[in-house]
Amino acid sequence: MPQITAYPAQYIAVLRGTSVKILITAGPTREALDPVRFLSNRSTGKMGYALAEAAIEAGHTVSLVSGPVVITAPEGLAEFVPVISAADMAEAVKKRFPDMDAAIMCAAVADYRPAEFSPLKLKKKDDDLILRLERTEDILKSLGAMKKSNQILAGFAAETDHLKENALAKLEKKNLDWIAANDVSASDRGFASSSNAVTLFGRNGAVHQLDYAPKKEIAEEIIRIILD
Ligand code: CTP
Repeated sequence: MPQITAYPAQYIAVLRGTSVKILITAGPTREALDPVRFLSNRSTGKMGYALAEAAIEAGHTVSLVSGPVVITAPEGLAEFVPVISAADMAEAVKKRFPDMDAAIMCAAVADYRPAEFSPLKLKKKDDDLILRLERTEDILKSLGAMKKSNQILAGFAAETDHLKENALAKLEKKNLDWIAANDVSASDRGFASSSNAVTLFGRNGAVHQLDYAPKKEIAEEIIRIILD
């Protein structure tokens, strides 16, 4: 019988029986105003895709639900679900979550969408245009309400100030097990950057400082801490 460590890394979790089914979201959402215009944000999907890749390499079964991005999905996904809007993402995620052992919401979901969608392209007028926006669903909060005691739920907190306070408030409000707090005020980390630095807060009071590093390394640490 060969030693378990003689197998490639991605088989070790399977052989040890520690492989889990995990749902990861990534990228921005787009909220349409008319057929050619939308509201969105600067997310590129790099952090979520790095998490998906790290989870695959650790031997887990990964479903990736992704907003529109230009990067390529990692090889070895169990499922890749492309979505456009927050409503699409909410539907895809809530349908799959009951069957998952864990979920990490890394997507930069738009908090608001245009209250009215114009099926015809809006024409400009001489006056200013005032847009009315309505709230989208807080998908992570919905998952927190659905969560069973054997499921692990993690989110991200993108903050420019009061990092710890705001992240812990989100952990509590959304009924999470973990939250990765991201300082998005510096241009060398967070949105659209290839590197990141996060502080991972656990429901049980655990605090892990993940220092500035490529997103792939941050992702490996997050997967190891959350799923071990
Ligand atoms: N999130 C979500 N649905 C939304 C908004 C956010 O599921 N409509 C998730 C994100 O994927 C992230 C977490 O909630 O994991 C926190 O997102 P963030 O933008 O930091 O915070 P918000 O909850 O939107 O609060 P605020 O914008 O007031 O900071």
